[in-house]
Amino acid sequence: MTKNEKDSQVPTTGHEYDGIVELDHPIPDWFRALFYGTIVFAAGYFFYYQVGDGPTLATEYKRDVAETVYAQYLAAGANPQAKASEQDLLALLKDDSLRKIGAQHFQAKCASCHGPVGQGGIGPNLTDKNWIHGAKMTQVVRTISEGVSDKGMPPWGSVFKDKEVHAVAVYIRSLYGSNPPNPKAPQGEVVEIE
Ligand code: HEC
Repeated sequence: MTKNEKDSQVPTTGHEYDGIVELDHPIPDWFRALFYGTIVFAAGYFFYYQVGDGPTLATEYKRDVAETVYAQYLAAGANPQAKASEQDLLALLKDDSLRKIGAQHFQAKCASCHGPVGQGGIGPNLTDKNWIHGAKMTQVVRTISEGVSDKGMPPWGSVFKDKEVHAVAVYIRSLYGSNPPNPKAPQGEVVEIE
């Protein structure tokens, strides 16, 4: 069958201009499937992102930036905490993404003893003015990484990278003066934090 003979069996749309007729070819099945597929996909997409708890663009953007900032921070590395000066550590307090990472580590590893908001429990209250081992950033970093084994504070230096210890210290500093409910009674010396 030639192409013309084939076409003569296809119904026309009834449109004819200067003897040229418009054939009414059916839409190919694969194209139809693609079309219905987009509808199904759109419904899923809508429910996940608009109705369900799919992340917003802003959330995804913040997460990506936080990951990048932290990756760069870790990559910058080679600054053993023993050598990080008080000045270096204080500069980190401005870094929101670092504090958030510290908060996550705190919830995972420290909250069981120091309370979910640092109010204290088995370990001391980390939100008040009283400090047993000092409140300077360098001192807090040292306490976290070396621990106080005879008093039940584990050493975290082998669990965390140096920078992760810094992140947790940044988070702890952000708790200062937060007056959480049910605080543990003060222990140690009163230290004024500048
Ligand atoms: C098993 C319980 C426990 C866990 C887990 C724990 N700590 Fe402690 N922590 C203690 C105890 C107990 C002390 C008090 C040590 C002392 O009396 O000298 C302490 C003391 C401290 C201090 C010094 C407080 C001060 O007043 O000088 C800091 C800072 C601290 N912990 C941070 C952390 C961080 C950060 C984590 C998680 C990475 C953590 N701790 C996990 C029990 C714990």
